[in-house]
Amino acid sequence: MSILNTLWPRRTAEASSPIVARPGEASPAAPTEPPGPFRTLVESLPDPVLVIEGDPSEPAARRIIFANAAARVLFPIRVEGARLLTALRHPEVLEAVDEALLGAAGEAVMETGGAQERVWAAQTRPLGRGDSGGLALLTLRDETDVRRAERMRVDFLANASHELRTPLASLSGFIETLRGHARDDPDAREKFLGIMQAQAERMARLIDDLLSLSRIELNEHIAPAGRLDLALAATDVLDALVPLVREKSLQVEIAFPEKGAADVEGDRDQILQVIQNLIENAVKYSPAQAVLSIEVLPDRPDESIALPRDPRATRITLLAPDRPQNRRFAVIRVTDHGPGIPRDRLPRLTERFYRVEGQKSGGARAGTGLGLAIVKHIVNRHRGGMAVESAEGHGASFTVWLPVANTKDNLS
Ligand SMILES: Nc1ncnc2c1ncn2[C@@H]1O[C@H](COP(=O)(O)OP(=O)(O)OP(=O)(O)O)[C@@H](O)[C@H]1O
Ligand SMILES: [Mg+2]
Repeated sequence: MSILNTLWPRRTAEASSPIVARPGEASPAAPTEPPGPFRTLVESLPDPVLVIEGDPSEPAARRIIFANAAARVLFPIRVEGARLLTALRHPEVLEAVDEALLGAAGEAVMETGGAQERVWAAQTRPLGRGDSGGLALLTLRDETDVRRAERMRVDFLANASHELRTPLASLSGFIETLRGHARDDPDAREKFLGIMQAQAERMARLIDDLLSLSRIELNEHIAPAGRLDLALAATDVLDALVPLVREKSLQVEIAFPEKGAADVEGDRDQILQVIQNLIENAVKYSPAQAVLSIEVLPDRPDESIALPRDPRATRITLLAPDRPQNRRFAVIRVTDHGPGIPRDRLPRLTERFYRVEGQKSGGARAGTGLGLAIVKHIVNRHRGGMAVESAEGHGASFTVWLPVANTKDNLS
């Protein structure tokens, strides 16, 4: 037991661990040596570490003879020498502990439920023999974030492949038809070529969006350079979208402040992309001849932004700005009178590829569900905020706010 003696010299009265007494041993109250440096080190490791003593042929007799602070948070260990089974019942981890008690390394994955689900990678190693059986080291590593990221990567690949495969399947189908029975039918050929072109454009749009998203993510930690007037940017975007607006005979109401009143720090191309996505959505989901409004509001504190104005509407903050205190923001808000978004769908709008099911947005022109994900990443890079307000059947209103440029309070 020489390693253990080095790691855990006899307990002192001032040791604050909840592990208080080892059955069969003298009360720990008698002060002896101070905790050794190794004990202090293991005690303060961020990962749970336990030492278990016992014999696998007597499962009930396996005892925890050491648990560091992280282990005592994770497991209900009341006393030093507590039975292993009172703290840990996960069969695979218990099996790995037994392997180590018998002299072999083991590993297992353990999921803990509750409000905060976590996934732990458990590893066991033999530590030789103790006073009453084998000794096993059990360490646990929190792998929740790694596994979540892995799941997101797999989902993302599956979604992206699916989204590309759908128009591709349609293109292949039409090529076959054009080679077959539509070969000598000029009307059908013209019609099918039109559909094929729309599908090819959809694929190109999807690839552009994916590349754009990955570029934005790569640079998300780099603060944007540049400065632009939010109202002028909105005017530029609107000018470019006039054909779409005309196509649906929409009426656009604008409320912009005077030039220079809504100057923000930002990457011009990215901010144009934000505004374009919001206005395109409003146009896409508005019925013909509807009214659509675009407001730009100058210079205000975070707290006063995006208060729900329609009492029927639900408001969700999709992105809260980083360190909003003492900062002032300029705001752009795009409101439409389309179908709106059901309350329970609002939090999911910025997920990649997420589309609210059952909304009509025009066949091959239907979106990819990447627009608002792109908006969120850009706004995050700009340390801004984003909110949505909607009442189903009564339209939707998206608000983005960005730090205003060059005022004393906004220099960080
Ligand atoms: N103004 C809006 N009114 C109603 N629903 C909306 C509105 N804006 C977005 N949505 C819903 O949110 C979903 C996600 O929007 P997002 O902009 O990310 O994707 P998209 O418009 O479908 O595709 P993309 O923008 O990539 O072309 C949309 O599919 C739609 O269901
Ligand atoms: Mg969109």
